[in-house]
Amino acid sequence: MLNDCTLWAKEAGRVQLQYFRGNALDIKTKFNDSDIVTAADKASEEILISNIRKKYPEHSILSEESGDNGNESDYRWVIDPLDGTTNFSSGLPEFCVSVGIQYKLQTVIGLVYAPYIGELFHAIKGKGAFLNGKRISTGKNQDIRKAVVTTGFPVDKDRTADNNMDNVARILPLVRGLRRLGSAAVDISYVAAGYLDAYWELNLHEWDVCAALLIAEEAGAKYEFFRSDRNISVVVANPGIMPQILPLLSQTANKHAFQ
Ligand code: IPD
Ligand code: CA
Ligand code: CA
Repeated sequence: MLNDCTLWAKEAGRVQLQYFRGNALDIKTKFNDSDIVTAADKASEEILISNIRKKYPEHSILSEESGDNGNESDYRWVIDPLDGTTNFSSGLPEFCVSVGIQYKLQTVIGLVYAPYIGELFHAIKGKGAFLNGKRISTGKNQDIRKAVVTTGFPVDKDRTADNNMDNVARILPLVRGLRRLGSAAVDISYVAAGYLDAYWELNLHEWDVCAALLIAEEAGAKYEFFRSDRNISVVVANPGIMPQILPLLSQTANKHAFQ
């Protein structure tokens, strides 16, 4: 299944590159002007789903643009056909295909492929995490003052003050650097590889994080769900930084359960 997944993600990535920085993007808004979909998101999704359907017709699929395919199966593919669409549509290189495969609701394969940057992350449950075939492990930094961290902002930031600025106000002064790179799946994979010390975001969905959380876990990073009221809200960090960053985040008593 990993081989299939890799082959199809690479095919989807090739199609993304055909659209990238071109004039056939056909940008459409969804929830608001910050929430968009392009022809490349749909083309990428079509490649992934049609291949899965052909080879694994009974498997269930959850994919961002087309939803749940309604199948009841122990195998479930959780797909973000293009994560980082705002970057993609602006001509910025951090975007990817993200595919997680679950067995009995536990993620067993995770693949994140950023075609422009040429980085393919993958993990198999219990077998480690890899970047372009080489084993990766999360960072060893234990001092938040030397940490480079990244975050993202919720799509409903225009209509609620609960838009992550509270967390930023507490974390920004403490860290070496704060970034907003623009693809949750790549951000988490970069924590896995030790390029970033931590990442957090609220109001995410399964397709944003399914594959990358397995990659992070297999690379030795920790993750915690810190809220129950804003879909999936997750912080991912190397083990030395997690105890320092988690208390800085606004949290709810009950956490969202996922995986
Ligand atoms: C978005 C990206 C972004 C994050 C948003 C996501 P999309 O996914 O991962 O970095 O901040 O919360 O929705 O819409 O580009 O697939
Ligand atoms: Ca996404
Ligand atoms: Ca997407």
